[in-house]
Amino acid sequence: MQISIRNLKKFYNDKLILDIEHLNFPNGKITGLVGPNGAGKSTLLNIISGLDQRYSGSVRYDNKNLDEDVLKKMTLVFQKSYLLRRSVYENIEYPLKIRGIPKSQREKEVEDILKKLGIAELRNKKAHLLSGGESQKVAFARALIFKPQILLLDEPASNIDSDTVEDFERQIINFNREIGATVVMITHNTRQAKRICDKVIYLKNGRVDRPNEIFKSAFGE
Ligand SMILES: Nc1ncnc2c1ncn2[C@@H]1O[C@H](COP(=O)(O)OP(=O)(O)O)[C@@H](O)[C@H]1O
Ligand SMILES: [Mg+2]
Repeated sequence: MQISIRNLKKFYNDKLILDIEHLNFPNGKITGLVGPNGAGKSTLLNIISGLDQRYSGSVRYDNKNLDEDVLKKMTLVFQKSYLLRRSVYENIEYPLKIRGIPKSQREKEVEDILKKLGIAELRNKKAHLLSGGESQKVAFARALIFKPQILLLDEPASNIDSDTVEDFERQIINFNREIGATVVMITHNTRQAKRICDKVIYLKNGRVDRPNEIFKSAFGE
């Protein structure tokens, strides 16, 4: 799904936080949102996710307004994840359970994703006792498991150690390629954005810094 933003304005109190005339997140691509603290990145992602509806302007999904159908196909992974006070396994299984997927299939899919993300040893741990980086991987697994068409990631790798961050990045790329999902990822790390994003948007003071917008086709146009 393509996400298109037109004439978006967002205020907090009297302060203009976002002012974006025109911005597209291309269908099936990974778009990075980069910018300093307070630039409005999380605010923009929350608006795209439908969580924040207090803005003016339009956000369209394949030329449609946000509706139940879009909401069902979209997921947002927060920078600080909200995991259930249950095992890692149960956390990742949850989205499949609420969609009525049979137990044997759930088991297979959860085991697959645990292995893929290199977190099989966390399987039986209580999710609320995990480290920051471990929680981010579990939250990511839980988001991927139902194969969303739109995946919104708010600094998904901010707590992941440098030894495994490139594996993690590879998983984002793999997911995007396998599913053809539209991925929007916030990152502080410009180099990380350049490694994995097809398109990078720089946000500063709530505005798009156009001259710095770059396109990358390293992962196939
Ligand atoms: N709930 C809120 N109430 C008032 N101001 C907010 C709120 N959330 C964010 N802001 C302000 O909006 C601006 C953008 O914040 P945010 O989108 O979180 O930035 P980023 O994610 O780029 O660091 C900041 O100046 C922040 O202080
Ligand atoms: Mg933020």
